[in-house]
Amino acid sequence: MLCTELERQSILSRLSGYRYTHTLGCERAAKMLAERFGGDVEKAAFAALLHDITKRLSKEEQLYLCDKYGIIPCDIEKIEWKMLHGKTAAAIAQHEYGAPQDIVDAIACHTTGKADMTLLDKIIYLADYIEETRDFDGVEPARELAKTDIDEALLYCFDQSLYDLLSRGKLIHPDTMAARNALIRQGVQRKFGAEGSGV
Ligand SMILES: [Fe+2]
Ligand SMILES: [Fe+2]
Repeated sequence: MLCTELERQSILSRLSGYRYTHTLGCERAAKMLAERFGGDVEKAAFAALLHDITKRLSKEEQLYLCDKYGIIPCDIEKIEWKMLHGKTAAAIAQHEYGAPQDIVDAIACHTTGKADMTLLDKIIYLADYIEETRDFDGVEPARELAKTDIDEALLYCFDQSLYDLLSRGKLIHPDTMAARNALIRQGVQRKFGAEGSGV
């Protein structure tokens, strides 16, 4: 067993407010997606439980954890430092909870995606995006696509995220471009235009 109920409750006790509710929603969505697409339900649940464990931390605390666990922030992450919570949460999952490498990797890429994601990576990214408390333009098409095709759903999420970043004049992490391009190269086709983008 990856995580006893006692450990699960201990992890949840480190979360509060919206983050607590979001994490429970993410855990449910990850289990549902793992069942639907043939993933490991237990690993999906454990990764979801830990994916935002460091999200509440300040910039100084994120950088402290980076230093402690040998994470070297890239140029984008130095500016958009909140992105670092994926990598620092992955380090906590590994060092404090003994998570296996595939779970660590899925947590590490949940904020940006990356090229050639595993099924577990995809489940966590998508669960984070579509879980039941999410309520933003574009979440419904993503939920609809996620009923039948995880890659089409992911491509929609990446396009939507990229459009959002462009429209707000934000930096784009190269891993998000790589994630999106990898799906296109595999022949995944977009089913819906990005919400509000006109494309
Ligand atoms: Fe996150
Ligand atoms: Fe999250």
